[in-house]
Amino acid sequence: MRTIISKTTFLCLVLLVMDGVFGDTDVMKSVSVTEGDSVTLNTAVTEVQRDDQILWMFGPKETRIAEIYKHVIDMFSSNETFGNRLQLNSSTGSLIIRNLRSTDSGLYKLQIRSNRGNSDKIFSVTVYAHLPVPVISSANFSSSERSSESRCSLVCSVSNVSHVTLSWYKGNSLLSSINVSDLSISLSLPLEVEYQDKNTYSCVLNNPISNQTQHLDITQLCQVSDFRSWSTAIICSVSAVILAVLAIVMCCLYRKYRRPKVNYFQPSAHAAETVLTDESEVVYAETTFSPNEQNKKANGREETIYSTVNRN
Ligand SMILES: *[C@@H]1O[C@H](CO)[C@@H](O)[C@H](O)[C@H]1NC(C)=O
Ligand SMILES: *[C@@H]1O[C@H](CO)[C@@H](O)[C@H](O)[C@H]1NC(C)=O
Ligand SMILES: *[C@@H]1O[C@H](CO)[C@@H](O)[C@H](O)[C@H]1NC(C)=O
Ligand SMILES: *[C@@H]1O[C@H](CO)[C@@H](O)[C@H](O)[C@H]1NC(C)=O
Ligand SMILES: *[C@@H]1O[C@H](CO)[C@@H](O)[C@H](O)[C@H]1NC(C)=O
Ligand SMILES: *[C@@H]1O[C@H](CO)[C@@H](O)[C@H](O)[C@H]1NC(C)=O
Repeated sequence: MRTIISKTTFLCLVLLVMDGVFGDTDVMKSVSVTEGDSVTLNTAVTEVQRDDQILWMFGPKETRIAEIYKHVIDMFSSNETFGNRLQLNSSTGSLIIRNLRSTDSGLYKLQIRSNRGNSDKIFSVTVYAHLPVPVISSANFSSSERSSESRCSLVCSVSNVSHVTLSWYKGNSLLSSINVSDLSISLSLPLEVEYQDKNTYSCVLNNPISNQTQHLDITQLCQVSDFRSWSTAIICSVSAVILAVLAIVMCCLYRKYRRPKVNYFQPSAHAAETVLTDESEVVYAETTFSPNEQNKKANGREETIYSTVNRN
């Protein structure tokens, strides 16, 4: 019997607390939202009564921004800070903020005055910026900064971020990370991988409520664009061109000086000729400077002539 009573009492307490009309307790509730989204700060009142006064205040000065009393809604001069992005639900008294901006971050104080009881509540709203997708690029380290020539140096970067963590993951395991709090700055985090590494790497940017991931494509970033490959390729091509030019030049030179060489050899072999410059002359010279054979021929011709004469 006692347990049933206490259970009922507890249930009533819970319902009263949830109704937001019990006691003077200050309850702080944290709300994290992304820029551009909408958020509803709930009063937990199911149906606003005529005599209920529900008041919303914002910021350190507790500026009045919205109120419903005797079923009349007053938005005060909230449009100066929020434009038309604020709205009050007439049946629940809940506050709706649309198209959130980072300047909407802060404390929203809710005050409920009712003949069923009073209630105060505070919402701590944090508006996080929309996260950019991190960018992975080849790192531009000097050779002295490279830890090894066989490794590919990369860097993951984001600009203009605050309250984020930037991390490198190999598969699902965290390799490294860097934190930044208040300042809106640029972040970059280096990574070195083997050229033939087959693991999956990803760079993740996250804040407490969301994340953006960029996967690493090693074949794209670590093969062609590597500086050493390029320089090697350039040196090879230049060498090939130089060799080709040299070969052509040698060829021309050879063709140009081949004949004088031949002429130089022929006379030297016969030890007497120095003036010959033409092949026909060479041929002539050869026949000319074969005195024995010519004499034989001459003798032969003479003999033939003589014999012919003799026959006739
Ligand atoms: C806010 O609204 C009031 C009247 O509702 C208007 O006179 C005032 O110019 C508005 N202010 C801004 C900044 O829109
Ligand atoms: C007020 O909130 C209730 C419950 O969330 C919803 O059903 C109702 O449509 C809302 N009314 C307005 C005017 O937004
Ligand atoms: C690489 O570094 C040099 C000097 O350190 C700099 O001039 C150049 O702009 C950098 N290139 C890139 C793509 O960051
Ligand atoms: C940085 O971000 C803020 C808001 O997040 C924005 O107002 C500002 O224009 C950005 N600056 C640059 C250089 O992108
Ligand atoms: C970054 O911040 C988060 C939360 O503030 C913390 O849990 C984490 O350890 C921090 N990491 C580093 C590398 O400082
Ligand atoms: C990124 O967010 C998704 C949900 O949006 C979550 O499943 C995932 O674990 C998060 N990743 C990291 C590294 O925080």
